[in-house]
Amino acid sequence: MSFPKERNGLPEHGGAPLYTALVRHGERGRASFHTPGHKGSPAALPHGLMSLDFTELPDTDSLYDASGPILKAERKAAALFGTARTCFSAGGCTLCIQAMLRLAAPHGGKILCSRVIHRSAVNAMALLGLEPVWALPGGVAEAASRPGFAAVYVTTPDYYGRLMDLGPVAAACRAHGVPLLVDCAHGAHLMFTQPVLHPLRFGASITADSAHKTLGVLTGGAWLNVGDARYAAGAKRAMALFGSTSPSYPVLASLDLAREWLQAHPGAYPPLQKKVEEIRAFASSRGIGLPKGPCDPTRITLNTASVGLTGVQAAQRLRNAGIEPEYADAAYVVLIATPFNTDGDFARLKAALAELPVGAPLSAEPELPPLPPVAAGLREAVLAESEPVPLSAAAGRIAAEAACPCPPGVPVVMPGERITREAVRFLRRYGIPGINVLK
Ligand SMILES: Cc1ncc(COP(=O)(O)O)c(C=O)c1O
Repeated sequence: MSFPKERNGLPEHGGAPLYTALVRHGERGRASFHTPGHKGSPAALPHGLMSLDFTELPDTDSLYDASGPILKAERKAAALFGTARTCFSAGGCTLCIQAMLRLAAPHGGKILCSRVIHRSAVNAMALLGLEPVWALPGGVAEAASRPGFAAVYVTTPDYYGRLMDLGPVAAACRAHGVPLLVDCAHGAHLMFTQPVLHPLRFGASITADSAHKTLGVLTGGAWLNVGDARYAAGAKRAMALFGSTSPSYPVLASLDLAREWLQAHPGAYPPLQKKVEEIRAFASSRGIGLPKGPCDPTRITLNTASVGLTGVQAAQRLRNAGIEPEYADAAYVVLIATPFNTDGDFARLKAALAELPVGAPLSAEPELPPLPPVAAGLREAVLAESEPVPLSAAAGRIAAEAACPCPPGVPVVMPGERITREAVRFLRRYGIPGINVLK
């Protein structure tokens, strides 16, 4: 679905650069294969939501002290997800991640973290004084079998749509009575696919779901889904610790509407999954690579390096053909498809893929270097004074920020780690010029 034409009837305000850029972007009419999941479709949300931009009033309830319509709406969402408690966020999944970590480890401690992690979680751990212990995604289950963690934190699906095998991780967490926290920013819709692939069904204790990314929700709308009843009572307080006291009511209302839409359209996902499968098969028939292993059945992730194009080059060609992808890197283009994409969008995408030139594959991704040694605490590294240095001067220094070349989308260096020569060599291959280090 390209954003509807009415948006193009918006008045001109030449002195407002951001507004003007948004209007111009809408006028290009590209098929949206990016967030937000509503794709501008009136089937997802009424365009008049601005008229509902109220604040906390006796009629409208209060997000962090909910006892009226917000509480009712949250309870309906909890019933849909089968949770002990679901809290609305107008501050994105970031707010849910902050709250999730606070809930699970209120007194600090070590968090076993998969290295595939969004910076919001790294920052939240720094603010909360939590100590991450890193494991590569394939090693989380084994690491979780060791005692001593306050929680285990993983991201699934990842940005490319790859799904982690949560069963063994959940079993290890259960054995130690440790909560399994899942950043499910890209997977809110997985409760509605066939089969159901949502982490709550595979033993997650709490998930943070960025509803706006893949469902018919305004940007910023997310759910904190508390599956484990032990964490239900404290969930709101944990959200209030970080959340704005002025949440957007249109965003909150869009979460309520999306939940209603999902209940009214129980068969929405299989037809979408079929369209995505067709696009994947077509791409594959042209030599374009697809991620290996279990994947979100609605995500279109194309390895165009296998036909000689970087993801960034391929994305530009797609843009020229009227398709706006979600993300592109050195090898992949990622497209987010939702039930609000039209058949016309898929036809346009297929035609654009048919026009991509097919050449010799680009060189394969280099092997990830071993995880560097930890030299400073995360909180110290994130909050201390830092300075930028070129890569040539980085070896031996302590990183103040993560360096995450994509692919593979796994940080080679995290804040607090001593930068190794292997890490420098790896980063150089991606053309990364420098990094912030502790002074
Ligand atoms: C894996 C992951 N987690 C968390 C977030 C943060 O979500 P939000 O933008 O809804 O705050 C993102 C955003 O891109 C993400 O990709």
